[in-house]
Amino acid sequence: MSDRVVLAYSGGLDTSVAIKWLEEKYNLKVVTLTVDIGNVPDFEAIRQKALKIGAIKALVVDARESFIKSFVFPALQADAVYEGQYPLATALGRPLIARLLVEAARKERARVIAHGCTGKGNDQVRIDVSVAALAPELKVIAPAREWKMTREQTIEYAQAHNIPVPITKASPYSIDENLWGRSNECGVLEHAWNEPPEDVFLWTKSPEKTPAQPAYLEIGFDHGIPVSLDGQELDSVTLVQKVHNLAGQHGIGRIDHIENRLVGIKSREVYEAPAAVVLLKAHQALEDLVLAKEQLRFKARVAAEYADLIYNGLWFTGMRQDLAAYVESTQRYVTGTIRVKLFKGSCQIVGRKSTYSLYDYSLATYDKGDAFDQSASPGFIHIWGLPARTQARVQPEPPE
Ligand code: ARG
Repeated sequence: MSDRVVLAYSGGLDTSVAIKWLEEKYNLKVVTLTVDIGNVPDFEAIRQKALKIGAIKALVVDARESFIKSFVFPALQADAVYEGQYPLATALGRPLIARLLVEAARKERARVIAHGCTGKGNDQVRIDVSVAALAPELKVIAPAREWKMTREQTIEYAQAHNIPVPITKASPYSIDENLWGRSNECGVLEHAWNEPPEDVFLWTKSPEKTPAQPAYLEIGFDHGIPVSLDGQELDSVTLVQKVHNLAGQHGIGRIDHIENRLVGIKSREVYEAPAAVVLLKAHQALEDLVLAKEQLRFKARVAAEYADLIYNGLWFTGMRQDLAAYVESTQRYVTGTIRVKLFKGSCQIVGRKSTYSLYDYSLATYDKGDAFDQSASPGFIHIWGLPARTQARVQPEPPE
């Protein structure tokens, strides 16, 4: 009797070919698993396609809520952005997909997991490492890393095996999308000098074509988690989707990044992440209001570490748990409301309020009601400047 494999299935060409290839090459019975983490159409059609090609079972899991709650929001609380630019949408989706593959493999008594990642990217690392951490007994096969077929040969293989190949010219880009963002690679984008053509963008309007009037939005946070829009409480998935739609309408969230991949190459990535850009900016603005200077400085260092860890596929590690515990602690008072203005591709913070605000009007104002004791400043400056004066006396600055 042949063993079973659970294949992460997107419905695209590579993973469709993989169904047959796993059967032919490894004599495996294929169970496909398609994970809904947002913004992908028609799951029933994908399921039917898998069965038609030869899968013995085709599973679809709606994981949008766990994606947002267990992966996206912790990353938002951390302000995790890779290399200061990429909000990590694809990178956050992979450990969840890996966990669901492991769960399905256990349920289906499969001994093998398969995915469509190539041998050149970060995604293979994220899935392989996550599966190994969660279920070391499972074997992982990545057909596209093994079969050494060019795109043409993959299409020929598909045609020879009656696997439907989209008749329309397939998108020239390699795309991955979920609620937190959309990643585009390949085609003309591989030439770093080329401006991304408009057809790369699906979620964001070109700023040339956005409304002539700005939109305002009030985002309510509770312990660093966005919970309401314009005073209306919303579930996590709806909230992210609404911000996504509005920000996309105003052309916000286009990111063009020369990125350092884990496997050592630089790659040109074009992202659309309207919800992520707005929510990260709003979250940071609230932290500016309620966290002390030292907390903000240290947290920014943790954010960079956390982003690297997510990018590098190390979600299921002790280090991730430790960073998450620190971040969780920093969010104790990150509760309040941020007002943003969305206009012509940019998101500006125009208002902030919180019960826990450390911004004190009576200390900051130059108007009536100033409570700052200016007469104490000379004494403070005398002590503060002591080391500078001492050093200047003993080690004078050389003349220019
Ligand atoms: N460079 C990004 C990352 O490593 C995006 C990867 C996109 N994946 C894809 N299959 N197109 O997270």
